[in-house]
Amino acid sequence: MQKIVVIGSSNTDLIAKIETFPKAGETIKGVSYFQAMGGKGANQALAAHRLGGEVKFVSSLGKDSNGLNAMEYYKKEGLDATLSLIVDETPSGVAMIWVDRKGENSIVIIAGANEKLSPEYIHQIEKEILKADLIVLQMEIPYETVKTVCDIAHENGKQVLLNVAPARKLDQGIIQKIDILVVNETEAETISGEIIEHIGEEGIVDKLLALGAKTVILTLGKQGCILKNDQLYLRVPAFSVKAVDTTAAGDTFCGALAAELSKGHNWNECLVFASAAAAICVTRMGAQPSVPTETEVRNFLEKKSTNY
Ligand code: RIB
Repeated sequence: MQKIVVIGSSNTDLIAKIETFPKAGETIKGVSYFQAMGGKGANQALAAHRLGGEVKFVSSLGKDSNGLNAMEYYKKEGLDATLSLIVDETPSGVAMIWVDRKGENSIVIIAGANEKLSPEYIHQIEKEILKADLIVLQMEIPYETVKTVCDIAHENGKQVLLNVAPARKLDQGIIQKIDILVVNETEAETISGEIIEHIGEEGIVDKLLALGAKTVILTLGKQGCILKNDQLYLRVPAFSVKAVDTTAAGDTFCGALAAELSKGHNWNECLVFASAAAAICVTRMGAQPSVPTETEVRNFLEKKSTNY
């Protein structure tokens, strides 16, 4: 089995369930509130870990109660986060999340210590990072850090999976070092500068491939996902479920994809597995509390195949 390193954010999510999103200047009563672990990096690392991958997680946390709780929680979950940076005088990252009755969310992040995960720190732990075969990244840590990891991985022949969330423009130099680029529609449009409505889903994927990514996966929510590289074009439908909260669906998809790839499965198997994991995730509230285990996903897939 291949080894995975996930390098990215860790947040404490403050989650409010509401009926509908408030307008500017409006005060509304929420339905319920809870706190749980989140952050796109941590969600993807935990997903890859729960779904059977051999994972190390590198993050940056403050020396505050959120940071200490996070490290305690990862330990309890069996997720190795010991390579993480613990910083003085900067609070750990937090995210304020509203989820409406349709399961749609709106998220505000205060990055805090996540911003301190510097290229210098990456160089300090470079040897450890290079023990991995697959390196998984997102965009909630400094852009220069993502670039540094891509350079190191490329120079040393390691695979990079980059999930460009939250969306931002990328230098072509980075895109050329990406083995697996995972994007949703907004992210694909931001990177390519094209509009899906104008050039179509396959058109935008082709544009990203032309920029240098080796394999592009475009996630389309309820419409499933598309994968394209120089040998394959796949379209995998999404599983139909009743969504209560879409938070971390994309993260669960990426973590599941990494885990299944690390076990040597083919692209189609990986996408079906990742879609199933994401489908289970949206049926529950919160980011990390919603990430399923490998057994849950296998049972879900077995049930679906007997129901066809
Ligand atoms: O993708 C969902 C995540 O985005 C949340 O857990 C939140 O922390 C933000 O990083």
